[in-house]
Amino acid sequence: MAESRERTQRTYSMSGEEYDEWRVSDKRGALLSDHDLRFFRELFPAVEADARVLEIGAGTGRFTIPALETGISLVAGDINESLLASLKRKIAELGLSDRCEVRVENVFELSFADAEFDLVFSLHVIPRFLNVADQRAALTEIARVIKPGGKLFFNFRGSRSFYNLVYAGHATDPAEVQDILADSGMRITSMQGKWLLTRKLINLVGAGPARLAGACDWALRRFLPTRAWDVFVVAEKEAREGPATGS
Ligand SMILES: C[S@@+](CC[C@H](N)C(=O)[O-])C[C@H]1O[C@@H](n2cnc3c(N)ncnc32)[C@H](O)[C@@H]1O
Repeated sequence: MAESRERTQRTYSMSGEEYDEWRVSDKRGALLSDHDLRFFRELFPAVEADARVLEIGAGTGRFTIPALETGISLVAGDINESLLASLKRKIAELGLSDRCEVRVENVFELSFADAEFDLVFSLHVIPRFLNVADQRAALTEIARVIKPGGKLFFNFRGSRSFYNLVYAGHATDPAEVQDILADSGMRITSMQGKWLLTRKLINLVGAGPARLAGACDWALRRFLPTRAWDVFVVAEKEAREGPATGS
């Protein structure tokens, strides 16, 4: 199992510039990334300005910066220092460094105490772990650091999607994800899905027609998310039972 985790880590050990070139600078990557940002903005849970927020797998800050722009402070963790160096540069240029602590963190062994955070978000990270055992381990460790009543926002690849026929990575059954969360005391409160727009489709039909797929996705986002290929989830950790009051 350690080998598959290291493989995922190594896949993203490029420089921040190389990552951004692939993800956001090229026209096709930007189309997909803008689409993701719409889901992010729609689902990102609102928290108080003084809430403790963690992003794990922050990369070069594709979602860190929009999160900071909502006015919150956060800890941005990732296992790859090369990507975090780029994130640090970006937030310094934007004058956001005082609200963002950037640090190396491994999602399988977070350095935080139990129940430290009001919100943890982690986008396009869980689907990069190539078996359900790693995905379970990552989600369980994330849930550990969330306060009772706190929230988790993440995405995964759904195995019940037709896209699974051509998808080469690891997809998970939504029922299994629900079980993993339930085992950590978490309950799904909202879920939306992306049905159509993928990098493969953009490469196949070109950016113009792919925009149409993006528009259909947006219209379908609340429709049967458990059948979508990219499933965005917000879950809440159950609040602890208060102490019994005897008379
Ligand atoms: C597909 S990228 C997503 C980055 C960013 N969230 C985004 O959407 O642009 C996956 C990220 O997970 C990070 N990662 C891989 N293994 C990790 C681990 N064990 N702990 C923390 N982060 C990890 C990678 O370094 C990379 O930044």
